[in-house]
Amino acid sequence: MNLLAIDVSPRLDNSYSRNVSSHLVASLSSPDTVVVRRDLAAEPPPHLDAVFLDAYLTPSTARTEAQRDALAYSDMLVDEFLAADTIVISTPMWNFGVPSTLKAWIDHIVRLGRTVDIRNGSFEGLAFGRKMYVVVGSGDLYTRGPLAMMDMLTPSIRAAFSFIGLHDIEFIRVEGTNVPGSRTNALPRAIAEVDRQTAA
Ligand SMILES: Cc1cc2nc3c(=O)[nH]c(=O)nc-3n(C[C@H](O)[C@H](O)[C@H](O)COP(=O)(O)O)c2cc1C
Repeated sequence: MNLLAIDVSPRLDNSYSRNVSSHLVASLSSPDTVVVRRDLAAEPPPHLDAVFLDAYLTPSTARTEAQRDALAYSDMLVDEFLAADTIVISTPMWNFGVPSTLKAWIDHIVRLGRTVDIRNGSFEGLAFGRKMYVVVGSGDLYTRGPLAMMDMLTPSIRAAFSFIGLHDIEFIRVEGTNVPGSRTNALPRAIAEVDRQTAA
């Protein structure tokens, strides 16, 4: 198994989502698992700029060398993503959605001609057959209570990845990290959920 582990939180040892993800990656791994790590806090992907878009919108056969260079980093991220059969993302919720580093990574890997194509006039995802886990750290609670409808993170991840054909996504929440009364249980609950999901 090739496992790609993407971490997003700029917090390191004290990040709830990174802690749960470490446990998840260890639980999913066997001696022959190849784990590739990408730390988006240490190496934030650039936002898509005019040079990138110009290259992206030029047909691949007509691209200049400079345009191919402009896409090289994105190509590397796509290759890394497609080489994995399991993807584990750990991310905080920021302002009800994903941090912009994770959004930038998604913008690099959702690529026409690489992870999604147009066939018979419709989009067709090319990243099918992969399994994805997303560990989400949030200060408040979203599985129940008044803020549940404010969760823009899980639907946006589902939308982007199902667009490229990856439908098998499990979310593991480490939630209520800022709520007195939930904070102490947030980590053990999430670890228990990892153990439940990886028990089979
Ligand atoms: C800039 C920023 C925005 C945040 N926005 C939210 C939010 O919209 N909803 C929420 O429940 N918690 C929010 N939080 C709290 C984090 O989600 C919480 O601290 C979580 O534990 C972060 O994950 P981490 O511990 O892996 O870094 C925010 C924190 C920061 C720093």
